[in-house]
Amino acid sequence: LKAKYLGLISGAESESALEELRVQAVGKKGEISLKMRELGKMTPEERQVMGPKLNALKDEINSALAAKKAGLADAALDERLKAEWLDVTLPTRTQRQGSIHPVSQVWEECTAIFADMGFAVAEGPQIETDWYNFDALNIPGHHPARAEMDTFYMHRAEGDDRPPHVLRTHTSPVQIRSLEATGAPTRIICPGRVYRADYDQTHTPMFHQVEGLAIDRDISMANLKWVLEEFFSAYFGTKVKTRFRASHFPFTEPSAEVDIQCSWENGTVKVGEGDGWLEVLGSGMVHPKVLQAGGIDPNEWQGFAFGMGIDRIAMLKYGIPDLRAFFDSDLRWLRHYGFSA
Ligand code: PHE
Repeated sequence: LKAKYLGLISGAESESALEELRVQAVGKKGEISLKMRELGKMTPEERQVMGPKLNALKDEINSALAAKKAGLADAALDERLKAEWLDVTLPTRTQRQGSIHPVSQVWEECTAIFADMGFAVAEGPQIETDWYNFDALNIPGHHPARAEMDTFYMHRAEGDDRPPHVLRTHTSPVQIRSLEATGAPTRIICPGRVYRADYDQTHTPMFHQVEGLAIDRDISMANLKWVLEEFFSAYFGTKVKTRFRASHFPFTEPSAEVDIQCSWENGTVKVGEGDGWLEVLGSGMVHPKVLQAGGIDPNEWQGFAFGMGIDRIAMLKYGIPDLRAFFDSDLRWLRHYGFSA
């Protein structure tokens, strides 16, 4: 019996086969258990001999079962380890990483530079009433500036008596909104999206501006010039001269368009050197009527405002010739200019 079971156990190939053997040998109705039951019918002398023998046999078989079980488990583990082996030296698949869009980067950078000069960020809606977008900025209904702006008008159903709305054509309406909200003195910038029906290499129907507004008792054009030169030098990382050209905006008086110094060499523009000039923004002293529309007294307060194209200065910094590419979402383009991995 002993030889039979030890042989079977050592030959068992799986845990379930082993379990069957256990039942067969030492289970309730197993061969050895039955033999032990027969002890009752034996004489005391026979029992004294057979009892310990059977007990020893049972122990031996139990420990053989346990040992084999452990052996099988080890083998199974080895098997699994072999199957799950992986080659950690294989090259990985390329992982592309996303990045911040160049316009957003420049937007953030503008905000940071102006923040260093004490400008807080103000905001306004992109869908604006024509009062904020035009009238309050001294552009009455008949004014040619309205026609020149290529405005997107919001459709109004017949009987809709809400005031007419437009997609804001510039960030200047935020001048009025922030004066209404905080009064004077104030120093804010407003970066944001603006809309005009225009499309070519340097115009897209949606683009970005950053508005600036500084109002106090004795702010002058000289302060404006300092702020702008400080901004451009920080932004381009080199001293940048500015040139003020007399201009006209209904909401500033006097008004100036501002150019920055640059060189043009076979198609590439370099800012901060050479004797060329490039227009980057409109500006001026805020018109008294605009201060009034914003609810502050023009006899007490004065200041400057400017509006600059964020996309325009992004193109200059990164040497990008076509504005439209900014909004094509072409990953090859983003990678080419180093904006994405
Ligand atoms: N709003 C003007 C534009 O979009 C720019 C500007 C802003 C000019 C503030 C003067 C003062 O062209």
